[in-house]
Amino acid sequence: MKALLLPTEATYDLIAAQLADRGYCILPQLLPAELNNALHRRVTGLDDEDFHRAGIGRELDFQLNRDVRRDETRWLNNEHPTDAAYIEKMAEFRLAINRRLFMGLFDYESHYAHYAPGAFYKKHLDAFKGQSNRVLTTVLYLNPEWQPQDGGQLLIYAENSDTVIETVEPNFGTFVIFLSEQFPHEVVKASRDRYSIAGWFRLHDPLQAPAL
Ligand code: OGA
Ligand code: MN
Repeated sequence: MKALLLPTEATYDLIAAQLADRGYCILPQLLPAELNNALHRRVTGLDDEDFHRAGIGRELDFQLNRDVRRDETRWLNNEHPTDAAYIEKMAEFRLAINRRLFMGLFDYESHYAHYAPGAFYKKHLDAFKGQSNRVLTTVLYLNPEWQPQDGGQLLIYAENSDTVIETVEPNFGTFVIFLSEQFPHEVVKASRDRYSIAGWFRLHDPLQAPAL
């Protein structure tokens, strides 16, 4: 089961080099195919009721929010073996990147996201400088046979700019990593169901009381 050894040390070297050099990295595959397949079965097997409208809030907030994003999300659950296998890989990832870049990544939170046909997420930042402990964003795409005409691309913009520097097709297994405070990004409207896992590595928040 050599494939289960993915990601390799060489892949972590590449990720670290690209993060240090330009702040993001796009890989056609990071995780073992078996894990990508299990995650795909898991997310497509969830019922609609398992998902929550992202960022749901009070009435007015909700309307504003609907103008910005239409995805539905569900946090991963460490009690489920498939979610646990992904979380475990991300713990390895955290240590591998910390060893190379001394980023001080402390923990990781992640959710499944479902974009129904017509859903989008307008240009946004995942974290504002000094206001959040989210430092590194990841997105894993779980869409077999995605076609460019299906839309749903991730557009990554240059810092403080309207210039698109990367257009990422949400192809099955593709894994994207970028500095959360640096890159505005958006999800183009998709015409098919679009599935992904979005996650954030965080720094330690000293204001958060430790669990006793
Ligand atoms: C997000 C996000 C990008 C994507 O959830 O914050 O930007 O391509 N997702 O799904
Ligand atoms: Mn985002």
